[in-house]
Amino acid sequence: MPPEIRNLTATAHALSASDRKAHYGHAGGVLWLTGLSASGKSSLAMALEQALMERGYSCYVLDGDNVRSGLNANLGFSPQDRSENIRRVSEVAALFADAGLICITAFISPYRADREQARLRCKQAFHEIHVAADLATCEARDPKGLYKKARAGEIREFTGISAPYEPPELPECVIDTASEPLAASLEKLIAYVLAVLPRKP
Ligand code: ADX
Repeated sequence: MPPEIRNLTATAHALSASDRKAHYGHAGGVLWLTGLSASGKSSLAMALEQALMERGYSCYVLDGDNVRSGLNANLGFSPQDRSENIRRVSEVAALFADAGLICITAFISPYRADREQARLRCKQAFHEIHVAADLATCEARDPKGLYKKARAGEIREFTGISAPYEPPELPECVIDTASEPLAASLEKLIAYVLAVLPRKP
């Protein structure tokens, strides 16, 4: 429906971003993790959520496999469905950030254009974090056996095998999970967040 015939009028919040920042002790933000399946996005996201909570942050993880079992249960893995997946998630992440919370997202989000749309939606709150494990490493890990199925032709349009992954060109942060243990990657990610989203004591 075109915007002019929707008859919507936005209601202003009584609370401002600085009211929310004063309440939580930090600004809202979106930490957008992107990378191949089995690159370590979910493990890093969940560990980061816990580490930030321990440091007094208010945060929550939106994870691909989880969100696809609920909000996005009607979507598959065609380019169009992946775009819609990322569009909805970026809208939710933007709402989290607007609410003053830190939203950590863990989605392959393989298309650069979709991630750029997410950046536009989330504005200055958006931090693109490339979880940069190469395909050979991810395929060797294959914790869910999906690469094996994709190679056997049992899964179609599988990222890295029969569907593209477009790496970020200018991410705010790169975490190389192929060449270091998860704990080292996590430390780097925590240091990045503490620097860009400092918490008032
Ligand atoms: S995205 O491309 O739309 O961002 P998303 O992160 O939500 O993907 O979901 C990826 C997860 O779905 C993978 O970790 C894997 O468990 C599962 N999956 C099932 N089919 C595919 C496929 N064809 N390509 C990639 N991941 C798939």
